[in-house]
Amino acid sequence: MMWHRETPFRLGGAKQAHLKVDGLSAGYGAFLVLRDLKLEARPGLTVVLGPNGAGKTTLLKALNGLIPRQGTVLFDGEELPEKTHEIVETGVALVPEGRQLFPQMTVTENLELGGWLVPKAERARRIEQAFNDFPKLRERANQLAGTMSGGEQQMVAVARAMMCAPRLLMLDEPSLGLAPKMVDELLAIARRIADAGTTVLMVEQNVKKALAVADRGYVLERGAIVASGPAKLLARSTVIREAYLGADKDPATGTTNAADAVSRRKAAVTT
Ligand SMILES: Nc1ncnc2c1ncn2[C@@H]1O[C@H](COP(=O)(O)OP(=O)(O)O)[C@@H](O)[C@H]1O
Ligand SMILES: [Mg+2]
Repeated sequence: MMWHRETPFRLGGAKQAHLKVDGLSAGYGAFLVLRDLKLEARPGLTVVLGPNGAGKTTLLKALNGLIPRQGTVLFDGEELPEKTHEIVETGVALVPEGRQLFPQMTVTENLELGGWLVPKAERARRIEQAFNDFPKLRERANQLAGTMSGGEQQMVAVARAMMCAPRLLMLDEPSLGLAPKMVDELLAIARRIADAGTTVLMVEQNVKKALAVADRGYVLERGAIVASGPAKLLARSTVIREAYLGADKDPATGTTNAADAVSRRKAAVTT
């Protein structure tokens, strides 16, 4: 991979963003999916893990103003607006589930639409930056997005979101449906974006790989946080290993390693 570039992912702005969510509830009409959620996305990469239907997409929709929310959402200490366009203006961008590109438009046109609020000269500069960040996309600039592979389309979706120069980037299951190598590449991109100064909040089902690139993690089940902590501790915790990573027994004794109990308790502490 060619990531050793001079100014990778520099669109995020100088100040690293901090999102703080408390007492968040959201759902669809009378059907409440999320109940009283408390979580934070600090500078770096935070991942929210959870099985299908746990409420991961609902969480990102609520944070992006696509569905109504209750509770407190502070973005750098100030209440996040409720309307999507105002949320985008404060520096929050969402890469939605399933990418939602314009398949009949070229890569460049998709990027232009991502930056349509930006003055023309600046938009051109950002497209150039996107092509520096995603060299694969420069080669495909004139290809129709709908004819690209899943991984390439996911890259276009991330690059399009970066056209807003977000300070907080939210990614909805970027690895979904991708081949293992592409999963690695997309998660590495998320990591690079975080390292370059854009706070990243990612939801994922790929527990092992997501925890390997994240700084902190939460586990969401049936609309509630059931575990949280630094990614390394969470990966070793019993709750994650038993529920998501398969067998956990010591092959010699058939018992669960005692150290797990310790790491589980540590990981369960909300940081
Ligand atoms: N548009 C919708 N209307 C009603 N219920 C929905 C809608 N979208 C999702 N749900 C329900 O909300 C719950 C959480 O869904 P979702 O947030 O998509 O989960 P995840 O992204 O973790 O797979 C599920 O029970 C799902 O059926
Ligand atoms: Mg989802």
